[in-house]
Amino acid sequence: MVNNPSHQDFDSSTYMTTFKKFKPFKLFEPSLGIMGFLFITVCVIFGFFYLDYRSVVAGGGFRLSKESDRFRWLKFGGYYGRKRFDFLSVDGDGCDVFDGDWLWDERYPLYESKGCRFLDEGFRCSENGRRDLLYTKWRWQPKECNLPRFNGTRMLENLRDKRIVFVGDSIGRNQWESLLCMLSSSVTSRTSNDSIYEVNGNPITKHKGFLVFKFRDYNCTLEYYRAPFLVLQSRPPPHSLSEIKTTLKLDQMDWTSLKWRDADVLVFNTGHWWNNEKTIKGGCYFQEGAQVNMEMKVETAYRKALETVLSWMNTEVNKTRTQVFFRTYAPVHFRGGSWRAGGNCHLETLPNLGSTPSQSSSTWTQYHIFRDVISNQSKTSSIEATKVMNILNTTIMSSRRKDGHPSLYYLGPKLSPAAAHRQDCSHWCLPGVPDAWNEILYALILKQAAVSGTNASSRVDSHVQ
Ligand SMILES: *[C@@H]1O[C@H](CO)[C@@H](O)[C@H](O)[C@H]1NC(C)=O
Ligand SMILES: *[C@@H]1O[C@H](CO)[C@@H](O)[C@H](O)[C@H]1NC(C)=O
Ligand SMILES: *[C@@H]1O[C@H](CO)[C@@H](O)[C@H](O)[C@H]1NC(C)=O
Ligand SMILES: *[C@@H]1O[C@H](CO)[C@@H](O)[C@H](O)[C@H]1NC(C)=O
Ligand SMILES: *[C@@H]1O[C@H](CO)[C@@H](O)[C@H](O)[C@H]1NC(C)=O
Ligand SMILES: *[C@@H]1O[C@H](CO)[C@@H](O)[C@H](O)[C@H]1NC(C)=O
Ligand SMILES: *[C@@H]1O[C@H](CO)[C@@H](O)[C@H](O)[C@H]1NC(C)=O
Repeated sequence: MVNNPSHQDFDSSTYMTTFKKFKPFKLFEPSLGIMGFLFITVCVIFGFFYLDYRSVVAGGGFRLSKESDRFRWLKFGGYYGRKRFDFLSVDGDGCDVFDGDWLWDERYPLYESKGCRFLDEGFRCSENGRRDLLYTKWRWQPKECNLPRFNGTRMLENLRDKRIVFVGDSIGRNQWESLLCMLSSSVTSRTSNDSIYEVNGNPITKHKGFLVFKFRDYNCTLEYYRAPFLVLQSRPPPHSLSEIKTTLKLDQMDWTSLKWRDADVLVFNTGHWWNNEKTIKGGCYFQEGAQVNMEMKVETAYRKALETVLSWMNTEVNKTRTQVFFRTYAPVHFRGGSWRAGGNCHLETLPNLGSTPSQSSSTWTQYHIFRDVISNQSKTSSIEATKVMNILNTTIMSSRRKDGHPSLYYLGPKLSPAAAHRQDCSHWCLPGVPDAWNEILYALILKQAAVSGTNASSRVDSHVQ
C-alpha cells in the first residue's frame, strides 16, 4: 500500500523514507521510469478511446460532462495518472469519501491521550500499557479526492452558537470523546480548564445518561446522549408476563429525543446492543403499540427500530436547521471466538491494507440490515433516506483496522493488561480510528456550509489544506 505510487499525494516525506529504505533498487530506476512512462502513455491513449466509447454508448450523442472529464484527466494526469481534487472544492462534489485506503502519515496522531482530559480510561490504550503506537499513525485517504486537514479552530468557528449532539451506544461515546479531544487540542489557552466545561459539572463516566460540554469562547456545545437502541426502552405494560422485565417500544423514539431534536448537528449510531444477549436474554422484549411480541427476532426488531428513526427524522427534524448524520455499524474484530468466548485482537498491530475487508459475520449482518432498511425506505415509501440524513458509511473502512482496538489495555494503568480471555475488540483506542470518522464528519460539515453558503470566496478558502 505504502509502496503503491498511485496513492502518493501530499505526504511525500513518507514516500521519501520508504524509497530510501530500498536504495539497492536504485540501479533499476531509470528503466522502471521508462517503462512507467510507456505504461502511462498507453493508459492515456486507451483512456481516450474508453471515454469516447462510453459517451457514445451512454445514450448516443456526445455528452459535454464526459468531455470535460477527459480534459481534466489530461491536464492533471501526471506521472501518477490521477490528480485528486480537494473534497471542499467544486471539483470534489460527489466524491465518495468512504472509498479509500489507510495511509501511513507521520503527522498523526492529531492529539495525545495524555494531553486530553476528556478521555475515558478505557480508550487510553498507550497509557494503559499498549506499547506499539503504529495504530495512531494511519490517515484515511479517499480514492477520488483529498480531505481537508483537520483544523479544530475552523470547526469551532463553524459551530459557533450551535449544538452538535451524538446519540447512540458506547461506540458513539467513543467517537464523541475523540471529537472532544480533537477540538480541545486547538483551544490551547492557559485558561482551557474553564473554557471547556461540562455544563452540569459531571465527570465523564461510562454510565451517565448524557453529558454536555461547552466551548465557552464559541458558545458551542458538544453533547452525548446514551441511547443504545435509539428507540424507547421502558417498563412493560401492566399485567405482563413476569419474564418481561423491560420492553423496547419499537415505534417510539428514546425519551431524550425531545432534548436533542432541535440540535444543529445530530450524529446517530446504534447496533451493538441489538443482539439476544442485551435484549431477550435479559428479559427485554419488543413492543409495538400496546402489544408485547414474545416471538419477534432481534433482527426484525432492529429493522423496525431503524424505520422508526428514519420516519422520526423525516417528520420531526427541521432539515433547514439540523444536519443529520447516521454512522453505520462499527465493526468488531474478535478472533477465535466471541467476546465471551475468549475472542482476541491483542496481537494485531497493523491494518489490513488489502482491499478485502476482514470478515466478521456479526458486523456484516448489522451492516446489511441497515443498508436494506435504507434502500427499502427509498423504494417503498415517500421517505428518501439520503435526503433525510447523511450516512457516515464507516463500516468498511473501519473493518480494515483490526489493529485499532484496546484489546487488553482498557482497564486503566493499574489493572491493565486484562485477562487474555476478556478482551475489548469492539471499542477503539484514542487517538485512533474514530478520529478518522470525525475528520470525515468535519469535511462533510464544511462541505455543507460551502454548498449552502453560495459564497464563492469562502469556497476558494476551503481549498487550504
Ligand atoms: C458504503 O460504501 C460502500 C463502498 O464504498 C458501498 O458499496 C455501499 O453501498 C455504501 N453504503 C451505503 C449505505 O452508502
Ligand atoms: C485553522 O483555521 C483558522 C480559522 O479558520 C485559521 O486562522 C488558521 O490559520 C487555521 N490553521 C491552520 C494550521 O491552517
Ligand atoms: C449561544 O447559543 C445558543 C444556541 O445554541 C443561543 O440560543 C444563544 O443565544 C447563544 N448565546 C449567545 C450569548 O450568543
Ligand atoms: C486544570 O485542571 C487540572 C486537573 O483538574 C489541574 O491539575 C491543573 O492545574 C488545572 N490547570 C489550570 C491552568 O488551572
Ligand atoms: C426551521 O428552521 C429554520 C432555521 O432555523 C427556521 O427559520 C424555520 O422557521 C424552521 N421551521 C419550522 C417549521 O420550525
Ligand atoms: C425490503 O424489500 C424486500 C423486497 O420488497 C424484502 O424482501 C425485504 O425483506 C425488505 N427488507 C426490509 C428491511 O424491509
Ligand atoms: C463570504 O466569505 C467571506 C470570506 O470567507 C466572508 O468574509 C463573508 O462574510 C461571507 N459572506 C457570507 C454571506 O457568508
